[in-house]
Amino acid sequence: MADTSLYTALPEVVTAQVPGPKSQALLDRRDAALPKALCGTTYPICIKQGAGAMFEDLDGNKFLDWVGGVGVLNIGYSRPEVVKAVQEQAEKYFHTIFNVIVHDGYVTLAEKLNEIMPCKGDVKKTYFANSGAECDENAIKIAKAYTKRSGVICFTGAFHGRTNLTMALTAKKTYARGMGPFPAGIYRAPYPYLYRAPKGYTEAEAIQYYLDELNRIFDEGALANEIACMIVEPFQGEGGFIPAPIEWVKAVRKICNDNGIMLIADEVQCGNCRTGKYFASEYWAEAGCAPDIITTAKSVGGGAPISAITGRAEVMDAAPAGTIGGTFCGNPLACASALAVMDIMKKEDFAGKARHIGEVVTERYKELQKEYPVIGDVRGLGAMIGIELVKDTESKEPATELTAKLIANAIQKGLLLESCGTASNTIRFLAPLVMTDEQMERGLEIFEESLKEAMESEGLLKTTKTA
Ligand SMILES: Cc1ncc(COP(=O)(O)O)c(C=O)c1O
Repeated sequence: MADTSLYTALPEVVTAQVPGPKSQALLDRRDAALPKALCGTTYPICIKQGAGAMFEDLDGNKFLDWVGGVGVLNIGYSRPEVVKAVQEQAEKYFHTIFNVIVHDGYVTLAEKLNEIMPCKGDVKKTYFANSGAECDENAIKIAKAYTKRSGVICFTGAFHGRTNLTMALTAKKTYARGMGPFPAGIYRAPYPYLYRAPKGYTEAEAIQYYLDELNRIFDEGALANEIACMIVEPFQGEGGFIPAPIEWVKAVRKICNDNGIMLIADEVQCGNCRTGKYFASEYWAEAGCAPDIITTAKSVGGGAPISAITGRAEVMDAAPAGTIGGTFCGNPLACASALAVMDIMKKEDFAGKARHIGEVVTERYKELQKEYPVIGDVRGLGAMIGIELVKDTESKEPATELTAKLIANAIQKGLLLESCGTASNTIRFLAPLVMTDEQMERGLEIFEESLKEAMESEGLLKTTKTA
């Protein structure tokens, strides 16, 4: 069991630098035993134990984790009820392959997701896969089966995973270097990134520009009646923490309705209370533009590998037998974990916690923006917040090196941050939603100190304000 004092602990680095000697020894073993592609240098951190929003490394350093397993730890580390649920399940049976032996956890979890998933339709159905990439692939299989079409529209900045199909859908090609050929029939339109919309456009003009570009696919890419689906992240994650403006979503929904195209919301990263609703598609549903299919993964299992695909019954029933499912999909341990996570998130109003954290952090980021001109944009929904760093606010040239320095400085002070965006110049905020107010305050102080140090090292800050 993890040291419970960690739940309320504050960041503290006790070694001369991170990594300390024990972590360094494990990193050396990692470098010798694993492929180089998995031996990055940005995060010299090896975990001993975690609780709530905090973890301790092998050398006794305590970190506040604002990366949260890249959106997996909305519930935090080592929640005792989740541990207990998995232990109890493990004592009964670890595994059944669901296509052969039915287990209650799978069916119950599907029922519960059917109740809360804000996609179109009164009667919904859900099934499970193991990862974000897999649930996105499955959603596309379902859309193809239902529409009997093969084309897929995706967006700039999108990240949908690292399988062959999802590498093709993912925008940033460093994730797919040398891995082709990829499936045909994939078309990409610009995601409505309002901060980087053509200069001088109003918001409405920018949205129209993005819609015109999307519609151009039907002239120059494929006919609309050849397109099975569009896959959209309601709040783009890897691409730079960018919300899809609701007016754009409404228009996209109409294009889909007019042309028999399925609208898939990829809630792998933004789902499970992160944006201040249980699923971000609730904002879409409230505006009358609910998606047809929703995928989710990451925080749905609280750390156990499971992902879900939900849609209305007639859509989900279109996949022929044999085309979906898999050995570990809906594994009993993962279902037990996901059921315990959902129970806690509902009872303790995690969506409300996200709204509270979102308000505090966004306000502070906006204050920092007034003080430090390298902060070009602050944008967020609930506790999914991006802060974009630029060389100057006029040219908006990405401040990639500055962002890397900010992350490196914060690590040395016990705060874990991660960047995103095509130019890796946006810090993504994905802290566990169980973070205490005191931890949040300390994290914000470290953020500012680390930013100032990074700016000083680049000659961008002349005077030092006391934090
Ligand atoms: C929006 C989105 N979709 C899909 C994926 C792929 O998930 P996984 O890494 O579990 O395959 C990610 C992962 O970051 C994601 O953020």
